[in-house]
Amino acid sequence: MTALLELRGLTRSYGSLTAVDGVDLSVLPGERHALIGPNGAGKSTLFATVAGTLRATGGGVFFAGEEVTALPESERARRGLLRTYQHSSLFLDCTVLDNVALAVQRVHGVAHRFDRAARRFRRTEAEARDHLESVGLAGRAGERAAALSHGERRQLEVAMVLAARPSLVMFDEPTAGMSAAETASFAELVERLPDDLALLIVEHDLDVVFRLARRVTVLHLGRVLASGTPEEIRADEAVRTAYLGTARTDELFTGDPR
Ligand SMILES: Nc1ncnc2c1ncn2[C@@H]1O[C@H](COP(=O)(O)OP(=O)(O)O)[C@@H](O)[C@H]1O
Ligand SMILES: [Mg+2]
Repeated sequence: MTALLELRGLTRSYGSLTAVDGVDLSVLPGERHALIGPNGAGKSTLFATVAGTLRATGGGVFFAGEEVTALPESERARRGLLRTYQHSSLFLDCTVLDNVALAVQRVHGVAHRFDRAARRFRRTEAEARDHLESVGLAGRAGERAAALSHGERRQLEVAMVLAARPSLVMFDEPTAGMSAAETASFAELVERLPDDLALLIVEHDLDVVFRLARRVTVLHLGRVLASGTPEEIRADEAVRTAYLGTARTDELFTGDPR
């Protein structure tokens, strides 16, 4: 199968510091891929460079068979490569439904003749309700977004990203700041997303990683330290050492393999 996303020697420097250093990585259509690594490993930099928020200083990003390295984030998004934004993208005074409807409208555009506009409005609303249903927020459609809890806002952000009809969605630490219960329901939501949607998830909660990912890449000092199935990564000595030094090696990976 051809990769949907392919990074070839991807590099990003900040002055003399090379935060991402020659990374090769690929994500197949529908693949669930997690990116992990200790603080400062370069995960957020890699993430931003793939999304187009930051420009690469070397190497290339290829998406759906085309090079996108020099394209702006909006153009990558138009092609189906989307990232979630933490909190920044919500209109808190609008209803939950309107937030998603606005995201749907961004894709369809706005019709100017009244009869068409009215039809399109109904279609937009129906599509927005479907996205809310997929993230488990259908029951909250009429409430103000400000009334949602932290975890529910995250669910809403996912609905808004789905509205853009992505083929790959990138999440940067989606469960950061969530309670254990919110983390569990977020992981469930991600598991229920359409099978043909590829995901690249930066996540520090390794239980979540091993639950969701079919492939895990470990970044260390800007480079790929290991890449493999969750089982292979769990068993990898170099990975354990990178996280913890030599002590307490067994406490790192305690979650149930799935
Ligand atoms: N805007 C920046 N300017 C300079 N150095 C940065 C910047 N952002 C990150 N870094 C450095 O790049 C390295 C990787 O950081 P980052 O990508 O945030 O790693 P991670 O997300 O894995 O913790 C770190 O050494 C960090 O200090
Ligand atoms: Mg980070």
